[in-house]
Amino acid sequence: MSSSANSPEKDPSFYITTPIYYVNARPHLGHAYSTIVCDAIARRKRSQGYATWFLTGTDEHGQKIERSAAKAGRTPGEFAAAISGEFRGLWDRMGITYDDFIRTTEPRHKRGVQKLFAELKAKGFIYKGSYTGQYCVSDEAFVEVPPGAPCPDCGRTTETISEENYFFKLSAFERRLLEFYEANPGFIEPEARRNEVIAFVRGGLKDLSVSRTSFSWGIPVPGDEKHVVYVWMDALTNYMTALGYGADEPELKARFAKFWPADVHLVGKEIIRFHCVYWPAFLLAAGLPVPRSVVANGWLLFDKAKMSKSVGNIVRAETVLEVLGGDALRYFLLREVSFGHDGNFTFEALVQRYNGDLANGYGNLVSRVVNMVHKYFGGVLPEIAPEAVATGPAEAAIAGQATETILEFGAQFDGMDFSRALETVWALVGAVDGYLTSAAPWKKKPDVADEDFAAMQARVLATAAEAIRVMTGLVHPILPESAAKVWRQLGLGEIEDAAKSGELKQLAWGGLRAGTRFNEPAPLFPRAEKDAVERMENLEKDNTLTAVAAASGTEAVAVAEPVAAAPVVDAVKEAVKHEGIAQIGIDDFVKVELRVAQILVAERVPKADKLLRLEVDLGYEQRQILAGIAQYYAPETLIGRKVVIVANLAPRKMRGLESNGMLLAASVGDEGAPVLAGFLEDVPVGARLR
Ligand code: MSP
Repeated sequence: MSSSANSPEKDPSFYITTPIYYVNARPHLGHAYSTIVCDAIARRKRSQGYATWFLTGTDEHGQKIERSAAKAGRTPGEFAAAISGEFRGLWDRMGITYDDFIRTTEPRHKRGVQKLFAELKAKGFIYKGSYTGQYCVSDEAFVEVPPGAPCPDCGRTTETISEENYFFKLSAFERRLLEFYEANPGFIEPEARRNEVIAFVRGGLKDLSVSRTSFSWGIPVPGDEKHVVYVWMDALTNYMTALGYGADEPELKARFAKFWPADVHLVGKEIIRFHCVYWPAFLLAAGLPVPRSVVANGWLLFDKAKMSKSVGNIVRAETVLEVLGGDALRYFLLREVSFGHDGNFTFEALVQRYNGDLANGYGNLVSRVVNMVHKYFGGVLPEIAPEAVATGPAEAAIAGQATETILEFGAQFDGMDFSRALETVWALVGAVDGYLTSAAPWKKKPDVADEDFAAMQARVLATAAEAIRVMTGLVHPILPESAAKVWRQLGLGEIEDAAKSGELKQLAWGGLRAGTRFNEPAPLFPRAEKDAVERMENLEKDNTLTAVAAASGTEAVAVAEPVAAAPVVDAVKEAVKHEGIAQIGIDDFVKVELRVAQILVAERVPKADKLLRLEVDLGYEQRQILAGIAQYYAPETLIGRKVVIVANLAPRKMRGLESNGMLLAASVGDEGAPVLAGFLEDVPVGARLR
C-alpha cells in the first residue's frame, strides 16, 4: 500500500477519518483498533509537517439504533447520547488526538445532509419511487435476496419492507465509477478489496433507495418530511459536514476548502462497498471532489470469529488499559496484526508481546542505558573525545543501522505496513542490546587502563543513548506515552514539542549532544505478572454488561442492575434516623446550586476501591466528578442516567484527579449505602432544583 497524501511541499494538509461508530453497542477492541490506527497515522503526519485533521464520531440514526433504544427503555436521543459519550470518553482515556468528534444528531450535520440531498435532487439524480424487498437492519442495507433468506453479508435475518422511497440513480454511475477506479489506482487499498469493488460494479448497479418512511429516527428529507434520509447517505456525509460542508460561517467554509477531499477514509473491510461505490457516486453526482483513498482494515478476531457484540466475543479496551496500559494495546494491535488482514486477539499473545518486546526489549534497554549514564557519569551524557577513542566499527554499525531504520521505518509506516515498521525498529533494539552485551561497559577488564575504560563507557553509552533517541523518535506515533517518558529521561524535554517543531521530521543520527543532563530513570513497562492473563479474563467476566443478542438478531445493550441492589433495597426499609441538624433559611438554601446532570462516562479509578470517575453533561458544560459509590454501583449501569449534582461545590482533588461537584444520594442503613437521587418524569439536563 502506498501513502496517499501528497508531499508536504506540494500540499501541506492531510485529512484522515475513522468510520463513525454505531451507538447501538458499547465500544470494544474492534472499534478501538480502527481508531488507534488513525491516531498513529495522524500523529506521524503531524510530526512530518502536514496540517492534519483527524475526525472520528458516532453514527446515531436509523432503525437499528431506534430499536436498540426501545429495547433499553430509552428514547433514541438519550440512548445515543449515552453510548456516544462512552466512545468519546474511551478515546479521551486512550489519548486519541482527534481534532473533531462528530455526532450525526448534531444540527451542523443535519444541515449538510439536507443540503446534499437537495442538491442531488435538484440535479435530477434523486427521484421518488417505491421499494419492496429485503432489508438487513443490522447492516442497514437493502439486500437482494428472496423473502425469508438471511443477509448475504452478515447472515442475520432480513425483513421484508415495502415503502415509498426516494431513489438515487446509482445505475447511471457504473461506467464513471469504473473509469474513476482505473484513473485512480490508489483509491481503494489494499488491492484485494479493489478487485472486489470493481467486480461488484461490473456486475451491474441498480438504483439505490436513499430514504425510508416506516420509522422516523433520522434526518427528514427536505421538503418531504415523512421521509428520513437513508442512514448510510446520512452517515457517509459526516466526513464533509464535520469540516463545514453546508455551513455559512467563513471559517468553516475555509476549513472545508482546506481539507476536502479526505486523504484517507479508514474503514473495516465489510463496509467497503458503501465507501467505494455509493459514496464516490454521490460525490460525482454532486460535482464534489472524491476522497483520495479508502483503506480497508481487516477484522480483529477473538476465538476465530469477528469480535462483535452480537457474537458475544468482545474484549473491552478498558480491560487492557487497566492491566497493561494504552501503549501496550497500541503496540500489540499494530505489531501483531498484519494491516489489511484479519488478526487474532488473545490475552496470552498480548502478554507475551508485552513482556518480550516492551518490558524485556525496548523498556529494559532504556532503563539499562539511562541507569548507567547516571551511575557512571552522574546523569550527564559524556563527551566522546575523538582523539582518545576513535569511534570503532561496532559504533559505525549501529549508526548505519539506525540511519537505515529511519528510512525503512518511514517507508513501511507510510505504506501502512505497521507490523514491519515496528519489526525494523525492534531489530535495532536487538542490535543495540547485543552491542551493549559485548562491550559490557559495566565490566572493567584488569588489563585495561582506567582512562581507556572510562572512554569506552562514554563511547558505548553515548552510542546506545543516541540509538534510543532515534528509535523513540520513530515509535512516538505508536507509543506516545512511553516515547514522551523516554524523551524526558534523555533530557530532551517534551517529545510533542519536538514533533511540532519539525525536529522529528529531521530525525537523523547524531542529534544527542554531549553534556545533556538526563532525568531520573522512570519505569516504562513493568513486567506483567503471571496472573496478568487471568486478571484480564476476570475483568471481562465481571463485566456485567455482556452483549445480549436480541431475538431479531440486532445488537442490544443490556442494562444491568446496580451491583449491590438487594442490600440497598433492604437498607432503605430500615428506620431512618433524624440527625438533628440545625434549621437554615431559604437564603442559605439557594446558595446551593443543585442541577440535573446526565452521566456520560463512568469508570473505576485505578487502585481506589470506592471511587468512580464520572463525566457528566450539564447541558451548558461537561465536567468530571469523583463519587465514592464504586462498591454500590457498577460503572456501566450509570451511563446515561440522570442524577442530581451540587454544581457549585468548590473543586477538590482526590487521587490526583479533580472533582467538580458532588452527586446527591440518600445514605441508608448502618453502612450509609448510597442510593442515587433521580426522577420519575423525564427532566432536561441542566435543570435547577429549587
Ligand atoms: N456506522 C457504520 C460506519 C459508518 S461510516 C460512514 C459502522 N459502524 S460499526 O460500529 O459497526 O463499525 C465501525 C467500524 O468498526 C467498522 O470499520 C468496523 O469494521 C470496525 N469494527 C467493528 N468490529 C471490528 C472488529 N472486530 N475488528 C476490526 N474492526 C471492527 O459500520
